[in-house]
Amino acid sequence: MFAAALRRGAGAVARDRPATASIFDISRVVTTGASNPAHAAAAATTTAAESAKPPANVQEFQIYRWDPESGGKPRYQTYKVDTNACGPMMLDVLFKIKDEQDNSLAFRRSCREGICGSCAMNINGTNTLACLSKVDKATSGAQKIAPLPHMFVVRDLVVDMANFYAQYKSVEPYLKIKSGDLKKGVEHIQTKEERAKLDGLYECILCACCSTSCPSYWWNQDQYLGPAVLMQAYRWIIDSRDEYTEERLDKVNDAMKLFRCHTIMNCSKVCPKGLNPAKAIAKVKTMVH
Ligand code: SF4
Ligand code: SF4
Ligand code: FES
Repeated sequence: MFAAALRRGAGAVARDRPATASIFDISRVVTTGASNPAHAAAAATTTAAESAKPPANVQEFQIYRWDPESGGKPRYQTYKVDTNACGPMMLDVLFKIKDEQDNSLAFRRSCREGICGSCAMNINGTNTLACLSKVDKATSGAQKIAPLPHMFVVRDLVVDMANFYAQYKSVEPYLKIKSGDLKKGVEHIQTKEERAKLDGLYECILCACCSTSCPSYWWNQDQYLGPAVLMQAYRWIIDSRDEYTEERLDKVNDAMKLFRCHTIMNCSKVCPKGLNPAKAIAKVKTMVH
């Protein structure tokens, strides 16, 4: 009897189909399925999900804008974003603005999980990574996003990192040996204890949040190496496998390169990876004496 009903149903569809309609006509499949319990349940679920959607939470974001090609002065532009219809992080807000409101907005990003260091910027007065910085959904005030402070701006939130990278290069951030007894294909090993000394140093992602929050770096970044680079210098100074410890110390032992650090500690306060560059600098200072 059920089979007969199915045949009847099929016959009804065939009879109703206009001469031009394809048997793959999706609208017909959906229409004829309206009485299907599975479809009805799916429709009910969709309606329930829609009614469970949180109400809009429209918040203001003031974003630093500057385009060298237009020649105008830098300014803050205000955007309104429903943060309940957006991912939870500041980087999500920037993407939503770029995708839906203003595709001329420029910012750097890559990994979106605190690994690449490219989304470093100043958010509500603190240097941090946009991808690790949660939107304050409770605030009624505007949230402010600016480029890393005291850096040359290339455009909007993108800053010129050339000097920072040149300083990093200057400390030769790689293993150097003198003896030449390093055999090709043979591991250059260290003990577990020696390796453990690098913890808290090697994790640096070179985002520059620390260096650009350091007043000494703001005023002397042409000479002072800054916390990020000094911490990496220290990382290679104490690597048990490296044979250039003395030369490395001599190189950073300089009133401007190293001793412009006055232990203000801004650097360690802002590091989004929870590292402590100020402590590393203090260790280098004791080693050069
Ligand atoms: S501790 Fe040194 S490097 Fe860190 S913010 Fe202060 S002056 Fe700068
Ligand atoms: S020490 Fe921290 S803040 Fe500084 S560059 Fe490394 S990860 Fe960024
Ligand atoms: S996008 Fe890579 S650290 Fe934020």
